[in-house]
Amino acid sequence: MLDKLDALQQRASAALEALTDLAALEAWHAQYLSRRGELTQLLRSVGQLPPQERPGAGQRANELKTALEAAYERRQADLKRQARTQALTAERVDVTLPGRPPSLGRLHLSTQALRRIYAIFADMGFQVYRAPDVETDELNFELLNMPPHHPARDMWDTFYTTREGVLLRTHTSPGQIRAMRDYCPEPIRVILPGMCYRYEQVTARSEMMFHQVEGLAVGKHIAMTDLKGTMTEYAHRMFGEGRKMRFRSSHFPFTEPSVEVDMDCILCGGEGCRVCKYTGWLEIAGAGMVHPVVLRNGGYNPDVYSGFAFGMGVERPAMLSHSIDDIRYFFSNDVRFLEQFG
Ligand code: FA5
Repeated sequence: MLDKLDALQQRASAALEALTDLAALEAWHAQYLSRRGELTQLLRSVGQLPPQERPGAGQRANELKTALEAAYERRQADLKRQARTQALTAERVDVTLPGRPPSLGRLHLSTQALRRIYAIFADMGFQVYRAPDVETDELNFELLNMPPHHPARDMWDTFYTTREGVLLRTHTSPGQIRAMRDYCPEPIRVILPGMCYRYEQVTARSEMMFHQVEGLAVGKHIAMTDLKGTMTEYAHRMFGEGRKMRFRSSHFPFTEPSVEVDMDCILCGGEGCRVCKYTGWLEIAGAGMVHPVVLRNGGYNPDVYSGFAFGMGVERPAMLSHSIDDIRYFFSNDVRFLEQFG
């Protein structure tokens, strides 16, 4: 029995020295010290020894058990320390390195411009009214006084869907009809922002999709002076108090009379330059008094009600404010462009 215990001590000690990780250590513990381990088995067999051998063998076995348990704990502490040192070396972080700043998003330049426009018109009592991008031919053209044969349709060629009479709107003006039909017979003061689509040659000044903001005021006794005052206030708030305004006679099928709203060129102050094509003026909106046919299509009696409407681009004015020379930057999704604003 004593020989067996000696042999076990040697084997167990050598194995304990040889193992190198905590998993192997647990296997070692199971092999020698667990309830089914070799030493436990030997301890149990002490009872079957002749009585005179039992005390010596029992004592020796118990001493061995205490010694192996102590050795196990020491080895466990060593291995844990080693594992921690290894982890600390492998995962070392150099806290003196400069950090990586998180990249912050920002609002698209068109969104920034739209929000400025909303704020200015909100101060003048205009609410935002949303109308869909996908429209019917009826709203985009017919109810705006452009029947199928009307030559003005050529100015606003668009993308047609596969469904008859359904298209991408060419301007925000069809929203006028929607707003009127919604509010009639109440007075209206809304702006209608949104994306418009045109089937046209893409150039530095013209995109096939762009934003517009439409304005519509309907009520009793609304006159051209209200339109002029509203447009002037807007231009002063958007482009600076000193801006001069010009209202030039024009034609739109859905307004009568119609005007182009011009502002003195913000680059040359009216002297004449490349941006204003040497005229000294920049066009900021198309506008006019709502045509009686359109008022009627919206549900209002033109003998009692009148109104004004305007429609302006969003990207072209933003190009002027930020000296951007090509509209194609807006939607080409190049972060080098987008990161410069905001
Ligand atoms: C219209 O779209 C009329 N619906 C405006 C209107 C509304 C008149 C209400 C009267 C009453 P026009 O086609 O001129 O008008 O477009 C208005 C503005 O949209 C232009 O001044 C310009 O700023 C912008 N715009 C037009 N086409 C493009 C384009 N291809 N790319 C970028 N902006 C454009």
